[in-house]
Amino acid sequence: MATKAVPGAAATGEPTDVATPATAPNPLRKGLRLERIPEPCTMVIIGATGDLTERKLAPALYNLMLGGFLPPEFTVVGFARRDLSDVAFRERLHASVGDHSRNRPVKASIWASFARSVEYQRGEFHDPNAFAELTKRLARIDRDRGTAGNRLFYLAVPPVLHPEIVRQLAAAGLVASGEARDARHKGWTRVIVEKPFGSDLASARQLNREISEVFNEDQIYRIDHYLGKETVQNLAVFRFGNGLFEPIWNRRYIDSVQITVAETVGIEGRGEFYDQTGALRDIVQNHALQLLAVFAMEPPIEFQASDLRDEKLKVLRAVKPMTQREVALSTVRGQYQAGWVAGEQVSPYREEPEVAPDSQRETYAALKLAIQSWRWAGVPFYLRTGKALATRATEIAVQFKQAPLALFERAGASSLDPNVLAIRIQPDEGILLRFGAKVPGPGLQIRGVNMDFRYGSSFAVDSPDAYETLILDCMIGDASLFTRADELERAWEILDPILTAWESGEGGELHFYEAGSWGPAAADELLERDGRTWRHP
Ligand SMILES: NC(=O)c1ccc[n+]([C@@H]2O[C@H](COP(=O)([O-])OP(=O)(O)OC[C@H]3O[C@@H](n4cnc5c(N)ncnc54)[C@H](OP(=O)(O)O)[C@@H]3O)[C@@H](O)[C@H]2O)c1
Repeated sequence: MATKAVPGAAATGEPTDVATPATAPNPLRKGLRLERIPEPCTMVIIGATGDLTERKLAPALYNLMLGGFLPPEFTVVGFARRDLSDVAFRERLHASVGDHSRNRPVKASIWASFARSVEYQRGEFHDPNAFAELTKRLARIDRDRGTAGNRLFYLAVPPVLHPEIVRQLAAAGLVASGEARDARHKGWTRVIVEKPFGSDLASARQLNREISEVFNEDQIYRIDHYLGKETVQNLAVFRFGNGLFEPIWNRRYIDSVQITVAETVGIEGRGEFYDQTGALRDIVQNHALQLLAVFAMEPPIEFQASDLRDEKLKVLRAVKPMTQREVALSTVRGQYQAGWVAGEQVSPYREEPEVAPDSQRETYAALKLAIQSWRWAGVPFYLRTGKALATRATEIAVQFKQAPLALFERAGASSLDPNVLAIRIQPDEGILLRFGAKVPGPGLQIRGVNMDFRYGSSFAVDSPDAYETLILDCMIGDASLFTRADELERAWEILDPILTAWESGEGGELHFYEAGSWGPAAADELLERDGRTWRHP
């Protein structure tokens, strides 16, 4: 039986034993990143005074330190435009951790040792001298702190700045992609790239081309924080670690699948960004299609990055891009109007600051997709996402086919609901199975009941934040939970025809919905036409 460290466990002080039964090999064992501590390295946060660093990266690094997952040599260099001393930068990070960490208050002893590993480099992205300074600094850190030339560059800046930054890194000799490029450089170089990855197929290809002029594909870690939420491993264990589910995971037993990413928040002051982006680009292109791919993929040969990504890509390749007519029939776009969400009044989307008063941008999207594979032919996959909806919930709901014979209806019982398996991703990660049970007493009354498993109450382990998992994975060199260029481009190939049809007005009209509802009536009609209804998590 093996005992493994898991991020999150350290925070609760719980010992975490992950039992590996002698008879059934743990499917995550091979390549399990959590069995390893990363090699000494320096993480350079490019854009270290921005919102992402404040809300996500600083807390993630502190929690990794708190959990004992970082090697003692680990060093952070913040790089940004404003003039800050090392001390002032550390104070900013300290305040960020105090405000946003899942473990609070900040422990003084842990912070003191973390702060010693933090430095700040001021610089403009267009200035080669700033990158020359950075090169010198990293060489000094390698010497003084023993970071062995291992570097992780985190591009915590809007994507429009990525090409210039990677060019500057290369020009400053900071990118070592194997011995061929720089025989003098020892150690590895990796780059984490934040979404959005382009705004359509052409721009995603362009961005991939520009980054891959400098980095090899195996050095590029495109982050989708949904995949860091334990989701992929949980789904993989559920499907491939149990004998029960895999035999029914196909068109013979499954009637349809719904993937919901529902948010209660509106656009939170990001009017300029959102009015150019919309729900399809912001959520469906990455999170929803990645969930679809993980849910529907074939068992990988091994649980490791290349096999997993190959299988996900196969699913995406089997999703047929829509014609213009199919867009009008199989998609719905919506925009929220005034309403109430959780007791708070919400203004119409068009009245948000920096949103055009006649904006056609969708804050809601629903699609019916077909996966043309042996396993999934004929099973519709309904995807929906929206802002200012009734509930915050991300889930995959599997609706099973009805029993072949309505035995109990003949005996007078009311008609039975189909079985549903709901895989909740957030909040309150868990799995719910809904089935029919006899109501106790005389007669034959049948009612739907739930079997409800929650990770939170079954395991005394506090789940790590997605950014903790993903940063650690990147340091270890495990790309399983990051998106490969071909997956990304295929996702755009699926969505480009929808975007084009919507933007030309040929893909159906924009439907309005009340904030705090479950979206436009047209989305309900999309399912009603198929004799189905949306599940409301
Ligand atoms: N914020 C989030 O929670 C979040 C979540 C998911 C994904 N993302 C993604 O993460 C990325 C970063 O977002 P963000 O919200 O953190 O951006 P941001 O707040 O605008 O921060 C940008 C950072 O880049 C620096 N910068 C900008 N132009 C520069 C230049 N010419 N030279 C040097 N430094 C420059 C800024 O430095 P100064 O401040 O010193 O000017 C700042 O540190 C985006 O791709 C975003 O989509 C963000």
